[in-house]
Amino acid sequence: MKVRKAVIPAAGLGTRMLPATKTVPKEMLPMVDKPVIQYIIEEAVASGIEDILIVTNRAKSAMDDYFDYYPELETRLNQAGKDKELSEVRRAADLANIFYVRQKETKGLGHAISRARRFVGDEPFAVLLGDDIMRAQRPVMGQLIAAAEKYGASCVGVQKVSTEAISKYSSVKISPLEERIFAVSDMNEKPTPSEMFSSYAILGRYVLTPDIFDILERQAPGYGGEIQLTDGLQTLCKQSKMVAVDFEGRRYDTGNLKGFLEATIDFALDHPETGAWLKSYIKDKAELL
Ligand code: G1P
Repeated sequence: MKVRKAVIPAAGLGTRMLPATKTVPKEMLPMVDKPVIQYIIEEAVASGIEDILIVTNRAKSAMDDYFDYYPELETRLNQAGKDKELSEVRRAADLANIFYVRQKETKGLGHAISRARRFVGDEPFAVLLGDDIMRAQRPVMGQLIAAAEKYGASCVGVQKVSTEAISKYSSVKISPLEERIFAVSDMNEKPTPSEMFSSYAILGRYVLTPDIFDILERQAPGYGGEIQLTDGLQTLCKQSKMVAVDFEGRRYDTGNLKGFLEATIDFALDHPETGAWLKSYIKDKAELL
């Protein structure tokens, strides 16, 4: 099993980040000095992915423009001797082979993934949710791919969440295989505390086998009246092997304001140009609070 392709669903309406996301796709909001989606693509590339499909909608063309060349700007930067800026602008366009498909109707995550069928063909593929940025020593998708390849199975990335938080996610029924890796036998989307299988929730990263597409085609709408990926995965884990990786790293939900701000602070603290300055700024502020 070799995972070469990735799908990034990025067709959501961004309703948790309004009004900023009325005309700017939430995936294009700046996280320090790069748009959110670039972190996700960099994680995929660092995990060995070569081809990436972004599932977009009619309001997201700023994303395709961002990953394109921009000759007028590049010539201007070159003439001005702004080599660092020029190489950053170019690097974004050369990160990976990026393809796009539109989800013409907002019918849920499972429906968005089903739009990737022609791109994926008959191979296993990675899914990275466009809102979920990971900060990790070892790329989180790389951790999942290693487990998927080792077990010849589909794979979901999980972490423990509190009982109060589980209803924002999906919960998995698991049994241990080795340190940080479990076998998955069931799951459900947005469970109440009494419905949850465990406190492990799926958090934005998947390696799927192509048999998910036939399942999603037959999938009835679930939570929120939408075609849910989790409902399709529930069928997949019962018909073929699936593992869960309790991945190492911190996940940020940049699709809501608090998660976005937490990620901004943590990434700015790590950034060579802003880290030392932000640390002293926060210290000064904290003294005044
Ligand atoms: C989606 C998935 C859910 C997952 C969550 C976090 O939910 O449907 O299973 O736990 O992302 O990755 P959403 O955040 O779109 O409601």
